[in-house]
Amino acid sequence: MVDASTFVTEAVEEIREQVGDDRALIALSGGVDSSVAAALAYEAIGDRLTPVYVDTGLMRKGETDQIRETFDYMESLRVVEAQGRFLDALSGVTDPEEKRKVIGEQFIREFETVATEVEASCLVQGTIYPDRIESEGNIKSHHNVGGLPDVVDFDGLVEPVRDLYKDEVREVARELGLADLVAERMPFPGPGLAVRIVGEVTEEKVEVARESCHVVEEELEEYDPWQAFAAVVGKATGVKGDNRVHGWVVSVRSVESRDGMTARAQELDWETLQRIQSRITGQLPNVARVVYDVTHKPPATIEYE
Ligand code: XMP
Repeated sequence: MVDASTFVTEAVEEIREQVGDDRALIALSGGVDSSVAAALAYEAIGDRLTPVYVDTGLMRKGETDQIRETFDYMESLRVVEAQGRFLDALSGVTDPEEKRKVIGEQFIREFETVATEVEASCLVQGTIYPDRIESEGNIKSHHNVGGLPDVVDFDGLVEPVRDLYKDEVREVARELGLADLVAERMPFPGPGLAVRIVGEVTEEKVEVARESCHVVEEELEEYDPWQAFAAVVGKATGVKGDNRVHGWVVSVRSVESRDGMTARAQELDWETLQRIQSRITGQLPNVARVVYDVTHKPPATIEYE
């Protein structure tokens, strides 16, 4: 990338040219990529951009409030409350690729509704370079790459950060004055907590994943990981009080990486791991045990599905 300030000037100009006099839509996910793409596009075309934040119910703790706050200056912001519809669509779905597909399709439906309403002809996306590489390599389907324009029938696809790596996107975020919380936020997958839940997504598992992820993010901030989170990986026996319980197994993952394509599991000290364990099992009565994932990528992926 050239320097961040030149990048912003050029990207804004390019978006103006691409969109022309039309209207555009962007899906805000709460992550840094779509936030930067939205901020660039808003600077370029103002309220002719409709940023759409779909609350899938699979978001991180406090994410929806934070989005409302950060993008408060965009009068055209739409927040779609779709939690129930996503949970219904995911009911009984256990295959990882099928889960991604169901989530992707539900996204499209939510967008279609808004797109038709605002008559947007362009779609802006926060696709970054590593997303494209992984998608082209068919490693897994990223719901935020391609696909949408065909289905929703947009005339144009605008991807202002398509050639950037994550650290470069962060630089641009700082240049744009996006709140630290957004600029420095860990990457979060498009399908959200669904890929941090092995097997069927249920309201109970989502709650366990969300609260556990929050604990892990808080406790591991000082390690400055690329990503640190928790996943619900199954059930096991435990003892709570005088009773044996069949509770959730939560796996803690913390990795270092530059671009997510390869990653190293972080070495954490025992006290930190124990603090995480005791906060999660203390706060969530339905969690029976907490484990730490020491697997690098490869052979594992970063997320669980
Ligand atoms: P994996 O699990 O494939 O993840 O090692 C590599 C990086 O990509 C993120 N990820 C996604 N991001 N849509 C996204 O926008 C997705 O479907 C998706 N799946 C994984 C993951 O969090 C990690 O940073």
